[in-house]
Amino acid sequence: MQTVVIQGPSTLKGQINISGSKNASLPIMISTLLSKGNCFINNIPNLRDTRFLASILKDLGCRVDFQKNTFVVKSSAIKKKSADYEYVRQMRASIVILGPAISRYKKFKIALPGGCSIGTRGIDLHLDALTKMGIKILIKNGYVIAERKKDKLNSINHKFPKISVGATQNILMAATLADGISKLKNCAIEPEVIDLINFLNTCGANIKVKNRTITIKGAEELNLEDYKVISDRIEAGSYILATMATKGRLRLNNFNPDDLTFPLKIYQDMGLKIKKISKSSYEFYCKKLKPIKKISTKEFPGYPTDLQAQLIATQLKSAIKSRVIENIFENRFIHIPELRRFGANLSIIGKTVTIHKTLNLFGAEVMATDIRASFSLIIAAMMSKGTTVINRIYHLDRGYEDFDLKLKKCGVNIFRKK
Ligand code: UD1
Repeated sequence: MQTVVIQGPSTLKGQINISGSKNASLPIMISTLLSKGNCFINNIPNLRDTRFLASILKDLGCRVDFQKNTFVVKSSAIKKKSADYEYVRQMRASIVILGPAISRYKKFKIALPGGCSIGTRGIDLHLDALTKMGIKILIKNGYVIAERKKDKLNSINHKFPKISVGATQNILMAATLADGISKLKNCAIEPEVIDLINFLNTCGANIKVKNRTITIKGAEELNLEDYKVISDRIEAGSYILATMATKGRLRLNNFNPDDLTFPLKIYQDMGLKIKKISKSSYEFYCKKLKPIKKISTKEFPGYPTDLQAQLIATQLKSAIKSRVIENIFENRFIHIPELRRFGANLSIIGKTVTIHKTLNLFGAEVMATDIRASFSLIIAAMMSKGTTVINRIYHLDRGYEDFDLKLKKCGVNIFRKK
């Protein structure tokens, strides 16, 4: 199995082109199931997850292809009406296939995604709303079996009891072809949800967003159009934090600061300086890192759970009893024991991690545990003296396109080892 070796300490200096957003690409690729015709979707990051999703769609019978950073759809018609366990267990986001598949076809079954390392991650919010739309749901042999009798799904007037990115995407997709006008309240409004809506509207859907309410006027049919996915705010945030942690200077290209307004404000309070070079190019540097008292993860526009681990790593040497509270997932601290291997002084009580300053960190052999947690290990390795070996780097390959090449170009002593 491949590992990554980093020789620390290093300072991040140079330029990085931010890739397309993984979390926007996956639902957009899935949403092509709703439409007829063909299209090119550009700026798709070439990652383990996006390639894997293309193979799931191929397995369902769609004629799709991945060429560099373009996802090509020749036909999105499904032949096989089942998304199998072997696929779904490897990528939770595939549950979002259910909404579009059952709105275009009368019967579809999909394996239950199960939990994952960061939490139990139920799908009750998805299934409750789909049931309200007239779908009969049966859970049998580890599968969700969905069936509808009517020609179209019913429109729905629904308030999600909890804000969920996945459930919002699933149900809004289902509603695009439903009979009449649907109103979804208490929705997730992450930039990746908005990008999905923009794509669907480009294909002929009629979706409007106001605060956390999404209104969808059911269309007769949708037709695929070419599209370019937004850039990855989480990848950008990860590199910005690595710049802060190593007192570096980094220019990010293909970057949209509007998708990261609140985190950038927090980072500026911590000492980050931002210089605008052009509309999509910004320079970041940080001479002195200041501790923060407390930060809690929250749905957009709050602080993203996907930048929690990297923020903890960044503060390892500057914290003064800094607290980070994880509100989205109940078990998203699996990076803490790994960060302790570098000598970090961290304590956990419930959903709060307290970071106590450690002056010296030393390279160690560690294990990547989930996509974002893994990047916190890269940050810690760059702040540490000596050699770090990161195992299970497939987690990094799931979410960070060419991360080793991008870091190497910016002066990090990093290489892959078979
Ligand atoms: C979540 C994050 C998203 C992040 C992604 C990958 C939020 C709101 N969501 O999206 O930013 O990019 O993980 O790390 O920040 N839940 C239920 N029942 C359901 C669906 C969800 O209880 O049917 C719970 C989940 O267990 C979780 C919370 O709701 O505690 C938010 O989940 P959700 O937003 O659906 O997760 P993802 O779509 O994976």
